[in-house]
Amino acid sequence: MTDRAPTSGPAIEAVGLVKTFGANRAVDGVDLTVEAGTVYGVLGPNGAGKTTSVKMLATLLRPDGGEARVFGHDVVREADTVRGLVSLTGQYASLDEDLTGQENLVLLGRLVGLTKRAARARAGQMLEAFSLVEAAGRQVKNYSGGMRRRLDIAASILNTPALLFLDEPTTGLDPRSRNQVWEIVRAIVAQGTTVLLTTQYLDEADQLAARIAVIDKGRVIAEGTKGELKASVGAGSVHLRLRDPEQRAEAEQVLALHLAAEVQLDPDPFALTARVDNGDGDRGAAERASQALAELARRGITVDTFSLGQPSLDEVFLALTDRKADPASAGVKEEAAA
Ligand SMILES: Nc1ncnc2c1ncn2[C@@H]1O[C@H](COP(=O)(O)OP(=O)(O)OP(=O)(O)O)[C@@H](O)[C@H]1O
Ligand SMILES: [Mg+2]
Repeated sequence: MTDRAPTSGPAIEAVGLVKTFGANRAVDGVDLTVEAGTVYGVLGPNGAGKTTSVKMLATLLRPDGGEARVFGHDVVREADTVRGLVSLTGQYASLDEDLTGQENLVLLGRLVGLTKRAARARAGQMLEAFSLVEAAGRQVKNYSGGMRRRLDIAASILNTPALLFLDEPTTGLDPRSRNQVWEIVRAIVAQGTTVLLTTQYLDEADQLAARIAVIDKGRVIAEGTKGELKASVGAGSVHLRLRDPEQRAEAEQVLALHLAAEVQLDPDPFALTARVDNGDGDRGAAERASQALAELARRGITVDTFSLGQPSLDEVFLALTDRKADPASAGVKEEAAA
């Protein structure tokens, strides 16, 4: 036991974490530092090792190598202390399907040590805060995916943990439910809880996280603020389709000028694609793209369709692995334009 105050120092300090399942090194030397009071995003595809890493940090799995501390407490030697500081919302919810939402929250509140009365009060607050009042008396098996996810998060913050692990909190949710979950996460952080969030979506990490680690095959392949990460992979691409292919050459000039980017003429004679750098954030790219559109309109060039794509997770990975293989080609690969 250390005599350090439970919430001093970084929320998480992990060095060289390893977990093997047979011959599979699911987590292969992960380092992470998460400052207290922030949202930290762990971004990676299926099987990257996100859940396994989270489980080790939450004391549910014992590391085979490396060390991790949560608010200064070792996750193996001081597992009980760590357990008292963290809460985990998993991909696999701990809710009882046959109980109502309200009953689940009261039961789980009792399990985290609240009195019956306090558990009821807390359940009421949570149902209110998570817009589940109407559904409170319904069995969880009849909840939608979004309702269930909200209830699951509510259940994990009944006792306001110092550190909350959210393992893919919005996978499979529709855009509206995702937004609700994001709002909830922001509210939780505003109350002082540190959040480690895993996700497969770059935009989710972008919305919520101050820093992001990209993991693949059990390793951290990039880490930084979202600005740093985006700058390292370049930005998305602007794609547009003109009404009149005769105007394409002029449109190409306008785009090249306003986007300060290389413009590609697609095989489709109506279409152009340009890569834009984010500069100092998305707005930079979006602003320049809208200036380019305005200039096209001024010149009487009609644009039928337009899109400004964010770098996808695929593009991040391509860019990152590209860079490792060949330092000269740091570029984001384009999909063949249709
Ligand atoms: N209990 C286990 N026994 C054996 N292999 C496991 C176990 N848990 C995870 N793995 C393997 O470890 C690797 C990492 O899995 P993990 O669940 O951590 O990935 P993930 O990044 O959370 O993926 P997803 O996005 O699909 O949830 C995978 O190859 C997985 O098959
Ligand atoms: Mg997982």
